[in-house]
Amino acid sequence: MTWLWTLIALAAAVFASLRIAGVIRPGGSGRLAGGSNRAVVGWMVVLAMVGLATLTLRAEEPRSSDSVGSSPTKKQGEVAAESTAASAKNTDEVKPPKGWPKRLPLPLEKTNCVRCHLNAGRELTLAVRDFAHSVHDLNHMSCNDCHGGNTDNDALAHDESVGFIGTKLSAHLRNCAECHEEEHALLASGPHAWDFSKRINTDYPMCIDCHGNHDVGNPPPDFRLKDVCLDCHEKLDEEHPAIASVVDQNDKYWVTMIAVREKRLQEEDPVPPEFRDRVDRLRHATMQVMHGLHKLPQKKADQLNQQVEALRQELEAWLKNAQ
Ligand code: HEC
Ligand code: HEC
Ligand code: HEC
Ligand code: HEC
Ligand code: HEC
Repeated sequence: MTWLWTLIALAAAVFASLRIAGVIRPGGSGRLAGGSNRAVVGWMVVLAMVGLATLTLRAEEPRSSDSVGSSPTKKQGEVAAESTAASAKNTDEVKPPKGWPKRLPLPLEKTNCVRCHLNAGRELTLAVRDFAHSVHDLNHMSCNDCHGGNTDNDALAHDESVGFIGTKLSAHLRNCAECHEEEHALLASGPHAWDFSKRINTDYPMCIDCHGNHDVGNPPPDFRLKDVCLDCHEKLDEEHPAIASVVDQNDKYWVTMIAVREKRLQEEDPVPPEFRDRVDRLRHATMQVMHGLHKLPQKKADQLNQQVEALRQELEAWLKNAQ
């Protein structure tokens, strides 16, 4: 509405001053009939004053009422930028948006990325939800650790000059590999190896196919690694029975682990302390099989599977006690 009042006010003011100055003469080319001229000029002046008063009032309104209303004509960026400006003043004020899963804590690090994206909507907010309680979140990383960008200055948050890589997948994969050198080296020694410095090669599975991007270490309940393999190896069970059995055991383990994590959402570590060492050891052993994919004798696969299954059953017992 502001622009309408501005227009009316300007037109009225211009008309009134021209009329007063005598530029527009009564009965001249102007369309106004002689007798009503005085009244019209008077109304114009009133209109101009109302318009100006409205503008002044609007300018004095507190800024926050603009962003709370989040008018639909605003672009997503503007709304997001304003709500961050409001919440950035006090980090304690960061509140989950509508629809945020009730029991899920917010990410530990309340960077500007998190604060703004939390309320930016749709896939911009989903990234924050999925990231919350991921292994990277629990290790006090934030969005910028993978995406780059500036966490002190909103205006530079997405700037390439501060290393922002956006959604450039090849750059992301190089980042994963750089932070996880040992795991990448094993992958590079196996049949899924390809050169990360080159263009994305979709013939091979990528880190995020098996681990996710935002929910690393915190997969959704319906995720099955086996489905990823089957995408490219329809006959995995027949052709690689030993490896297939490790994949199946791994999927079974995660069903239990997801239930355990759900019980420990408010804890610093989602793994109960008495299981921590064994979880780490057996995850590492599973990684060595899955990344290297070197020849795996069935006997070795069975040994690993038995240990993972024993751990899983103890976790199930822990779950029963935690009811
Ligand atoms: C002031 C609000 C705000 C801040 C702060 C902010 N973002 Fe964003 N971000 C947005 C909005 C809005 C979009 C969607 C529009 C766009 O691409 O600019 C977006 C888009 C993105 C995208 C998707 C880009 C694409 O190319 O599709 C990524 C990734 C991202 N932001 C990461 C970050 C990271 C990392 C930080 C912190 C360093 C950050 N953002 C800080 C509001 C913000
Ligand atoms: C472990 C690394 C990692 C972290 C941490 C991370 N991202 Fe991402 N993000 C990715 C990858 C990888 C993609 C997918 C790129 C692609 O598909 O091209 C992505 C994609 C996105 C997208 C595009 C939409 C989508 O979901 O694919 C947005 C927006 C985004 N991230 C925002 C964020 C925000 C906000 C945070 C912090 C809460 C964050 N990311 C933390 C790796 C990460
Ligand atoms: C800035 C460094 C950094 C980047 C980039 C990074 N990670 Fe991590 N990652 C960590 C840290 C720290 C941990 C937690 C400690 C650990 O287990 O080594 C971790 C843990 C993990 C784990 C173990 C999960 C579990 O259940 O314990 C996986 C899998 C993983 N990251 C995959 C990825 C993938 C995939 C990417 C890229 C999309 C990625 N990481 C990017 C630092 C990083
Ligand atoms: C995006 C496709 C893709 C996905 C997903 C995928 N692979 Fe592969 N895999 C390949 C390609 C390509 C090769 C190399 C084939 C070759 O060298 O003949 C390969 C090779 C292998 C080999 C060695 C085959 C041999 O004959 O030596 C094994 C074992 C294997 N993959 C297991 C798996 C498992 C287990 C998964 C799931 C965790 C998986 N793959 C997911 C594409 C994929
Ligand atoms: C074909 C599927 C697949 C691909 C591709 C893959 N991983 Fe993994 N990775 C696994 C499995 C399975 C595990 C076993 C642990 C688990 O699922 O909890 C694992 C474990 C890990 C771990 C934990 C290691 C530990 O000792 O606990 C890290 C870190 C990791 N992967 C990083 C990566 C990175 C980085 C890439 C890409 C360079 C990658 N992975 C590619 C399947 C994969």
